[in-house]
Amino acid sequence: MSGLDKKTGKTVERPGEGAAGFSKNGFILAAIGSSVGLGNMWKFPYITGENGGAAFFLLFILCLVVVGLPILLAEMTIGRGGRGNASSSLFNLTNKKHWKWFGLISIITAFLIMSYYSVVAGWTLHYMIQSFAGALSDVNMDYAGAFLGFAGGYMPIFWSALVMAITGFVIAKGVSGGIEKFNKILIPGFLILLLIMMVRALTLPGAMEGAEFFLKPDFSKLNEESVLIALGHSFFSLSLGMGCMLTYGSYVRKDQSLGKATLAIGAGDLLYAFIAGLVIFPTVFAYGMEPSSGVGLAFIALPAAFAQMPLGFLFGGVFFLLLAIAALTSAVSILEVPVAYAMEQWKWSRKKTATIMATLAFLLGVPSALSVEGADGPLSNVLLFGKTIFDLFDFSTSYILMPVGGLIITLFTGYAWKRAGEEAGLTGGIYRTWMFLLRYVCPLLIILIFLYSVGVLKFS
Ligand code: TRP
Repeated sequence: MSGLDKKTGKTVERPGEGAAGFSKNGFILAAIGSSVGLGNMWKFPYITGENGGAAFFLLFILCLVVVGLPILLAEMTIGRGGRGNASSSLFNLTNKKHWKWFGLISIITAFLIMSYYSVVAGWTLHYMIQSFAGALSDVNMDYAGAFLGFAGGYMPIFWSALVMAITGFVIAKGVSGGIEKFNKILIPGFLILLLIMMVRALTLPGAMEGAEFFLKPDFSKLNEESVLIALGHSFFSLSLGMGCMLTYGSYVRKDQSLGKATLAIGAGDLLYAFIAGLVIFPTVFAYGMEPSSGVGLAFIALPAAFAQMPLGFLFGGVFFLLLAIAALTSAVSILEVPVAYAMEQWKWSRKKTATIMATLAFLLGVPSALSVEGADGPLSNVLLFGKTIFDLFDFSTSYILMPVGGLIITLFTGYAWKRAGEEAGLTGGIYRTWMFLLRYVCPLLIILIFLYSVGVLKFS
């Protein structure tokens, strides 16, 4: 199964299907589009804010390099070598049934992530439109109340349906004609707008205090918990542990260097997080907001800051447009995981699969949309394991299912599949370092995150 079309020499999306896979640059852009998401623009700034700023940023870089990049390379390598979805690829490479079942976990995880990710993605669309329309320009407005009122109502269901519709549409168009094209248009435009926002933020009076908070490390603010948060976030940010990069990897040409792709994606993810920090912290500090205000940083503190800024409706609108782009390009990559699975497993057409999966993920997301903590939504009082439904989806995927998925990948590549080095194109010292990280360092750290998040391991 080579995945190459005999006549044209181009990669085919899936053996036998005949549609085109990624071009070389197209793959890099799509993978960056997947990794750069709400994680970079929404989660990274607030966890950095809560964990003391610059020192946490350095810790995150360390986790990204030591744990994130080796697993990223492993996922892409499995996908390209196995030429299947997140489950069948593992089977194709070993011929052992149990790996198929392990792979299935990641497909379910993707589905669960998609359901609540689309809710937050939907919020960004609402805020973008509100901001451009000038509805967020009142300095005296209660932005916390406005956000909680909105997130606690029924409107988020509409917005998440829109997100699903866009995502499903892009996926239905195929890998080269849909996913690649979408990212090729949006990701470069994204960088330009983000740079404009950075210049605006850094030239605000009082901006330097924010830049300093983000860039001048104070290691006394770090604790064991920060390490685990940084580690977990390096997973989330690089889209690891649920077959996402694996599925994208299965559409990659044989002559593309996966090592170089790993470096480009890692650098891209870091760069976008870095610039997002240079937009958010200066803006927040310039207008006297709290950098550690948690989940509400992007939806409460920032709108309040933009309201005070000259032309704030425009800059605020652009900021939420950026969040929306980041979220949509990531959402596409998440939903593609179950779509690729169902297409192969049940031989459904791409259009039909995209429609069914988008609909199912949307329905699954409705309880999340109605249960945001503190927002007094219709389901906010329903607690399962002491968490709201929204938090339960986030927690169980980010801290339990994704680490388990990552562990499966490291063990598979480190121990079960003997020819990963060949497929990845690594030899000598680099190969040995990669294997050492995958066999010992990554599994150990992942097990630590896992034990900590389920409460077995405690630091006092
Ligand atoms: N990496 C994206 C972000 O930073 C989210 C994402 C996309 C993701 N695909 C994923 C997270 C796969 C975990 C697994 O927002």
